[in-house]
Amino acid sequence: MVGKRICVGWNRLLLCLPVVILITHLLSVTELHQQTNSGGVRKEKPKKSDHLVLGPAAGEGLPDRLQCRGTKALNKTRFSTFLNNSHSVDHVAFVTVFATYNSPIGSSPPDLVTVGNISYNKVERSMVVLNIFINFIQVTMPQSNVIILTDPTSELPLHRDMVTIQPIQGEYSRDRLMLQRIRSYIAFLETRLEKLTEKQEQITHFIFTDSDIAVVDDLGRIFTDHPNFDLALTFRNNKEQPLNSGFIAVRGTAEGIQRGKAFLQKVLKVYSSKFMKASRMLGDQLALAWVVTSQPNFNTRRFSKREAFQDKISGASVLFLPCSSYNWTPPEGAGQFHGMPLDVKVVHFKGSRKRLMLESWNSFSASSDISDMLCLILKSGRTKYDF
Ligand SMILES: *[C@@H]1O[C@H](CO)[C@@H](O)[C@H](O)[C@H]1NC(C)=O
Ligand SMILES: *[C@@H]1O[C@H](CO)[C@@H](O)[C@H](O)[C@H]1NC(C)=O
Ligand SMILES: *[C@@H]1O[C@H](CO)[C@@H](O)[C@H](O)[C@H]1NC(C)=O
Repeated sequence: MVGKRICVGWNRLLLCLPVVILITHLLSVTELHQQTNSGGVRKEKPKKSDHLVLGPAAGEGLPDRLQCRGTKALNKTRFSTFLNNSHSVDHVAFVTVFATYNSPIGSSPPDLVTVGNISYNKVERSMVVLNIFINFIQVTMPQSNVIILTDPTSELPLHRDMVTIQPIQGEYSRDRLMLQRIRSYIAFLETRLEKLTEKQEQITHFIFTDSDIAVVDDLGRIFTDHPNFDLALTFRNNKEQPLNSGFIAVRGTAEGIQRGKAFLQKVLKVYSSKFMKASRMLGDQLALAWVVTSQPNFNTRRFSKREAFQDKISGASVLFLPCSSYNWTPPEGAGQFHGMPLDVKVVHFKGSRKRLMLESWNSFSASSDISDMLCLILKSGRTKYDF
């Protein structure tokens, strides 16, 4: 019975998929990096998919995990249930650092990827990801502004309500982007601190994130449910990289901003002194973990539970939130996939899962049902896609 229904879902999905242009030899950022490192010799990689591939839903039968039939959700997530009364009192703004990079000129075959019936080149792909990031925020947290920190020399073709582009001087080259990102966060917090002391502006809390995330619940509750933290980070049970740098929340009081800024300055210092040789994607996460775990008496065993906890780290009160709810990522390897918690609030389309972000938005626009969209993500998240 269940098998049959899954097949119905499959057929519908296949029928809905418009013609897809097959492009081989697409290079993702990491592959490009590997290629340049190995002197242009490209290693064989498992082929990535150019269309959504549905698999089994992980977490089946677990009481606190989302249950799906086909791509229909059997449980409603909190957001779907409390849509009309969920808006928190405090004002929250999202902040992301954004830069685009063109494909090398004359790259062949032309670097196009088709999703639905639209083809995107590399720059268009980052722009559509940024736009969908904004779309989700405007659905789940419509009062929230989005602030985009970017290179003053780049001109972002983006004009949307509730979105501000704030140029910040710096070096936004691909190799330095993670380092620059922390610098831009610090510079941004400095500008806010000035505004805060100049005139009594309304308090706005900040959530610094990657732009390849979908916010699927009201995150303002973090600040009211945990009234005493200065800075919040997301953790997972991973020895080498227990903290993900793609989500950092800072309380918008003068104290919160000051301590958040001092904390990031420490991370920046550790990054520059210890981890400059680390892969350009990882240095900030290694520095973040170093700052936290080198704190005397810090108990890393708390990373293995799925429970939020708070601790004092270099003068700041830091709230640790589980990635499983606040930074849920489709699994990166078999065996670590336990399904999707019913209280998932942020889905992170890391690495080769950007196509899934586009498909998810398309699915949500068609059905307006967050839970059903989460089923699509849960069932398609195992596959690596072509962008
Ligand atoms: C989710 O749905 C399944 C299937 O209908 C049900 O057995 C389970 O109790 C539900 N979970 C919650 C927490 O409501
Ligand atoms: C939310 O909306 C639903 C359906 O539109 C309605 O039945 C419910 O009473 C509303 N809840 C609140 C608290 O307004
Ligand atoms: C894509 O397809 C949809 C439905 O088939 C259609 O409504 C839409 O206009 C198409 N968009 C483009 C850019 O061709």
